[in-house]
Amino acid sequence: MKIDEARNYHKIDAVIVGAGLAGLRAALEVAKSGLAAAVISKVYPTRSHSGGAQGGIAAALANVSEDSLESHMFDTIKGSDYLADQDIIERFVNEALKTVYEFEHMGVPFSRTADGRINQRPFGGHSSPRACFAQDVTGHVLLHTLYEQCLQHNVLFFNEFQVLSLLVSDDVSRGLVAWDIRNGGLHIFHARAVLLATGGYGRAWKVTSNAHANTGDGVALVLEAGLPLEDMEFVQFHPTGLYKHGILLSEAARGEGAYILNDKGERFMKTYAAAKMELAPRDVVSRAEQTEINEGRGIGGKDYVYLDLRHLGRQKILERLPQIYDLALNYLKVDGIKEAIPIQPTAHYSMGGIPANVRTEVIKDAAGTVVKGLYTAGEASCLSLHGANRLGTNSLQDAATFGRIAGIHMSEFCRENNFSGLPAQPLEIAQGKIDRLWNGQGKERHAPIREKLQENMTKYLGVFRNQDDMLKMLVMIKELQERYRQVTVDDHGDVFNLDLIEALELENLLSFSEVIVEGALARQESRGAHFRNDFPKRNDGEWLKHTLAWRRDGKIVLDFSKGVVIYPQYQPQERKY
Ligand code: FUM
Repeated sequence: MKIDEARNYHKIDAVIVGAGLAGLRAALEVAKSGLAAAVISKVYPTRSHSGGAQGGIAAALANVSEDSLESHMFDTIKGSDYLADQDIIERFVNEALKTVYEFEHMGVPFSRTADGRINQRPFGGHSSPRACFAQDVTGHVLLHTLYEQCLQHNVLFFNEFQVLSLLVSDDVSRGLVAWDIRNGGLHIFHARAVLLATGGYGRAWKVTSNAHANTGDGVALVLEAGLPLEDMEFVQFHPTGLYKHGILLSEAARGEGAYILNDKGERFMKTYAAAKMELAPRDVVSRAEQTEINEGRGIGGKDYVYLDLRHLGRQKILERLPQIYDLALNYLKVDGIKEAIPIQPTAHYSMGGIPANVRTEVIKDAAGTVVKGLYTAGEASCLSLHGANRLGTNSLQDAATFGRIAGIHMSEFCRENNFSGLPAQPLEIAQGKIDRLWNGQGKERHAPIREKLQENMTKYLGVFRNQDDMLKMLVMIKELQERYRQVTVDDHGDVFNLDLIEALELENLLSFSEVIVEGALARQESRGAHFRNDFPKRNDGEWLKHTLAWRRDGKIVLDFSKGVVIYPQYQPQERKY
């Protein structure tokens, strides 16, 4: 395929992949500095998955009770099961207030206290009401406001483009190649700086709160470019996924006082986290729920428990939690004002991702060597802010704060560095992927392979893990990868060829899932969201360290020499709630 230079070659200072909160916040910062910023997104920007975050954005504003930066910092460290890097958390909590006030000044319609300040609600693992919220549509309003700001500041948008390869060589980022989903055709984006803000990878599981677009494209591209991923074994299960659908029912419900009940009508969290009850961190609540289900105390002995809002009353439910009320009604025909809502743990958040330093520069080894001009922020990244388990509402804050920080450093970089040369054959990898799917002779189809991967990741890599299950999953992934080599697509059309896009996404799902399983098998301890029945204790002596993983000669290679940044005053302790 030839490139139409006038139409398909773009030379832009900063190219940002992903139009969620991190990507848009970075783009806004670059554009405000007077440089050209383009956002490439596989979906229309306001459909990005940040819009699915419901309950709030964390910041120690202390609007409704006492709070402090130290408290936010300690809660995040403890929530992470001591795997988070504490210098990153320090920067994060220090910037968090500014991030929220910036949003307020942009016009975000936060819910308010009686005296007009931004309202805040309790959330799991936070010791004060710290979640600034807009009903239960916080991510949605932040995303829409930010998108409007980007339009106002002339950010360029390439909507419905799928990135197929990163142009990285000699530790320098030069741009990327993307497929135009709407019209067909490959485009080269030649950039001084590239940001990967492609979000999470929950779609490797069958039951997930993640949007269909969350297929981990960014992490898979990084792996393909010969760069490492970090801490991929840490995947968070949110305790209140709508039964069978996995759709998020916000933790805000519990923040407002909702209960979780087993078949006997018991608030079973009293057995697992007596002090925090339903507002223990997500790893703790998900394990409790799964234990109740596994031991036969799910509702009617089945694989779900109840989220009970009824005692909150109609007015509070409709005023504070209108979205989750609608979701239960529309998807399960359950009226949350009158009935308890069936829920189960759902794959929700990826703590691992593309390793980066506090400046959001992508690093390529444990020593922190930077890949010039390549940045990452938001859920795709691993800075590591969340360690082994993220606290609710820290993710919107992470995306916005480190999106802004990325924008600042990308702008500096663009001013100090010219465009690096493109490789001799920039289209080679992207073109090869499409040619193989269109012109291969194989008889496999992508859908059954994806389905098998998702079903078994849910079965074998869930809330509880063990060696036998994970070995089964590893063998299966290798078989599925082998089958993928025989996948071809029937649709050869240029316009909205979703057959092609879904096949391309599947390659990504299969690639990073192998890293998750390899990391989880190697880590012989339980920490945060990674719980192994065969190694049920945290083991700081051997495992207080990050996992880096590369794909080399078709195999996953792991390295554990990247230590955790720990301040003297925040030494690891036993984690109790
Ligand atoms: O439960 C929620 O509203 C999700 C928020 C988050 O993941 O931070």
